[in-house]
Amino acid sequence: MKVFITRQIPQKGLDLLRSAGISFTEWAERRELEQNELINICKNYDALISVGQNKINKRFLQECRHLKAIAQMAVGFDNINVAEATMLKIPIGNTPGVLSKATADIAFLLMLAVSRKAFYMHKKIINGEWGFYEPTADLGMEMEEKTLGIFGLGKIGFEMAKRCAGAFNMKIIYHNRKMNDEAEKKLNAKRVSLDELLAQSDVLSVHTALTEETRGFFDYGRFAGMKHSAIFINTARGAIHNEPDLIRALNEKLIWGAGLDVTHPEPMHADNPLLQMPNVAVLPHIGTTTEETRDAMSKLAAENIIAASKNEQLPHIVNPEVYAS
Ligand code: GLV
Repeated sequence: MKVFITRQIPQKGLDLLRSAGISFTEWAERRELEQNELINICKNYDALISVGQNKINKRFLQECRHLKAIAQMAVGFDNINVAEATMLKIPIGNTPGVLSKATADIAFLLMLAVSRKAFYMHKKIINGEWGFYEPTADLGMEMEEKTLGIFGLGKIGFEMAKRCAGAFNMKIIYHNRKMNDEAEKKLNAKRVSLDELLAQSDVLSVHTALTEETRGFFDYGRFAGMKHSAIFINTARGAIHNEPDLIRALNEKLIWGAGLDVTHPEPMHADNPLLQMPNVAVLPHIGTTTEETRDAMSKLAAENIIAASKNEQLPHIVNPEVYAS
């Protein structure tokens, strides 16, 4: 079994591959592979560990239908045409669970950074603007007993809700297709309609996957349905909110602030007006960027490849239907 890895990944994952007798090559150049390059490379490998946003579309899958597995080193897999992979019987793996706490930490950090204008105030110091003390200037807001609304309460949303309930006794509401029993029981979370989520959330945090249904979901109309004092947080995928609409909603004070760990496109351009707004905090997609989480993600990706090398079902599988006879 020979695996191609589209980035350099933590030793923990590589050690697992090595100990299973699997040979691998990591792409070491600091640039994104073109699709043609990736296709040509993959012709010489049996499996792929996909890191980042490699386009695993119909063309790629058709050309690389020999792959025994594609292990995405991320929980999100919106870059992969899963239906096509399933048709071609290519198992797709991902890395759920191990990154939930680190990602929720970033959502929580953004909530506080926005509510206290932290990034903006930091910039003021850098720009030599830490000046005269004015008791009524640059006021933020407090989170104590506010309402947190989660759009898509799964593992990451649960961790965010837990942090907010524990730290600030925040009331938790969420909008999901299915009820989340654990959140209802442990966090007293209440499932609400979309309109209720928009109307009642003081902080609305997005934790859903990017799908055709959620693409551009948070648009001008949805921001208009939120409280004028609300903070919008997105640590899931940038394409779930419509960025020009978000800018307009903030400029028109339809909502109070926004915290983004994900943008559309990524990287965000340095001249983006969001970066100049006092009530906005933006981070460069660092939800999973901790030693612990990246180690764990690399291990899950390696486990998926090792299972494929033994013709076993991937332990962390996105499309189990590939094993149906
Ligand atoms: C990060 O964005 C992930 O999907 O794991």
